[in-house]
Amino acid sequence: MLRIAVMVSGGGTNLQAIIDGVKDGTITNTEIVGVISNNRNAYALKRAEENGIPSLCVSPKDYETREIFNEKLLEAVDGLQPDLIVLAGFLVVIPPAMIQRYRNRMINIHPSLIPSFCGKGYYGLKVHEAALARGVKVVGATVHFVDEGTDTGPIILQKAVEVEQGDTPEVLQRRVMEQAEWKILPRAIDLIANGRVRVEGNKTVID
Ligand code: GAR
Repeated sequence: MLRIAVMVSGGGTNLQAIIDGVKDGTITNTEIVGVISNNRNAYALKRAEENGIPSLCVSPKDYETREIFNEKLLEAVDGLQPDLIVLAGFLVVIPPAMIQRYRNRMINIHPSLIPSFCGKGYYGLKVHEAALARGVKVVGATVHFVDEGTDTGPIILQKAVEVEQGDTPEVLQRRVMEQAEWKILPRAIDLIANGRVRVEGNKTVID
């Protein structure tokens, strides 16, 4: 069984997709051992509670320095003894020590087709605003391993979604979630749980 820890900051619809995937057998060999949020008011925490999944909040607001917060966050993650960390809308800079310790064992969902609309400042709705401002006709989502850069790690899965006339950032965000994120994140976890993802340099090979 792959032990996964899911890290969240907000609504937790991707967390829900993972919970549903484990329940309905789309994701196999996987157990969600805990949910960690940096935000006490994240609706994602309610989703965890409703599904009997242990959850905790580690907020930077509760600590005097970023260093202390980083240590506490890593302690909380380690405490769950996860095989894989899933960043599911976790909007906090990952401590370097955590990246090192969980190299090739931490994945992130990003709401664009990397390398478009990614990197510093591109998160959540901002990604969709930028895509609409640029006038692209195809957007999408990416699941990738986390390395030291922002959205630069080896790509595992991507899925394209069409932009439609009259889209607002909110409408486009919802379509990208429904058609891409909620599909490729569970799929990536299932592939990893079944030993089908290999990292070779800055790329992955799916067996
Ligand atoms: C998702 O769209 C996810 O791709 C994005 O935040 C949203 C979280 O929604 N993540 C990023 O932008 C990371 N750079 P959720 O809480 O409903 O899953």
